[in-house]
Amino acid sequence: MRAVVVTDFDTEPTVAELPIPEPGPGEVLVRLAAAGVNPFDWKVIEGAMRGSVEHAFPIVLGSDGAGTVERAGEGTGFEPGERVFGQFMDVQHGRGSYAEYAIAKAAKLARLPAALPFDTAAALPTAGAAAHDFVEGTGVGPGQTLLVNGASGGVGQAAVQLAAAQGVRVIATTDPDTAGYLREIGAAETVDFTQGPTADQVRAAHPGGIDAVVDLISSVAEIEPIAGLLKPNGVIVSSNGAIDAEVLAARGLRGANLYANARPATLASLAEAVEHGQLRFRIDFEVPLEDAADALARLKAGLSRGKTVLTIEAA
Ligand SMILES: NC(=O)c1ccc[n+]([C@@H]2O[C@H](COP(=O)([O-])OP(=O)(O)OC[C@H]3O[C@@H](n4cnc5c(N)ncnc54)[C@H](OP(=O)(O)O)[C@@H]3O)[C@@H](O)[C@H]2O)c1
Repeated sequence: MRAVVVTDFDTEPTVAELPIPEPGPGEVLVRLAAAGVNPFDWKVIEGAMRGSVEHAFPIVLGSDGAGTVERAGEGTGFEPGERVFGQFMDVQHGRGSYAEYAIAKAAKLARLPAALPFDTAAALPTAGAAAHDFVEGTGVGPGQTLLVNGASGGVGQAAVQLAAAQGVRVIATTDPDTAGYLREIGAAETVDFTQGPTADQVRAAHPGGIDAVVDLISSVAEIEPIAGLLKPNGVIVSSNGAIDAEVLAARGLRGANLYANARPATLASLAEAVEHGQLRFRIDFEVPLEDAADALARLKAGLSRGKTVLTIEAA
């Protein structure tokens, strides 16, 4: 089978010919039709998990994918021919979704409603589960104000919609091109991060503070002014490990570093929301599997305005 691999950290992704893997107990072999591209995919190449997890090179890149069950191992509950989507990344076994066939743990897969195309489904798992878990993690409710910092990206666009659907007043940071789209999908206010520091702009509009932040952008060094926007007892969650909960607690604030968990129930709820038009995933770049290296470079360069998807046709 064709797969996009790296042979070591900091090397270029290339297309390789690999044997089709065999699913073990609790695992499902999926014939993929599409793979979703996430920033974590290039971060893995740069060694995001180096030292914490063994890497079995060559590693097939990619977490997210959608396709048809080819074979199911013992005890998965899946049958050949079922349409599924979910997460496939397992660097310890060199496995990922940028391939014609990939193995997922059954606990990271969900069935795909017939009305949902494979490319949309491939865009959902990581960004959708992150948005779901992060918005939930803030605990914000109707009438409260939430800043989504990084709202113009894959996770952010979904977070804006999930929060707005709960009656939360969402402030969305964005480039000027994406501002109109974010208002269309539910942002009450947008802040153009290219026009000055986000914290200054939000404070000017909300001198009394805001209730919560989903931060998808800031590093440890950058989080302070964003956390400083919160009202007393406000809550901030970070996708990038930028939070020190003890430092926040000393200031009367709450916070956590969160890691998305694409549980089958979360995946199913995301698919249902998309199917019923309550959640939109904008795919702004869709190219064949062979163009994965370019797609990753484009995403890393900040040229993406939505989700990137690789289409996969079995040879
Ligand atoms: N912890 C977890 O489980 C988890 C899960 C999913 C994602 N993540 C992380 O969360 C982050 C976001 O993921 P994603 O998939 O949404 O990435 P993405 O699609 O690349 O989106 C990031 C967005 O942030 C925008 N941005 C860049 N600089 C900004 C700034 N200073 N202020 C506000 N916005 C800015 C980018 O705009 P430009 O394109 O114009 O630069 C882009 O639209 C990534 O770091 C990812 O690795 C973590």
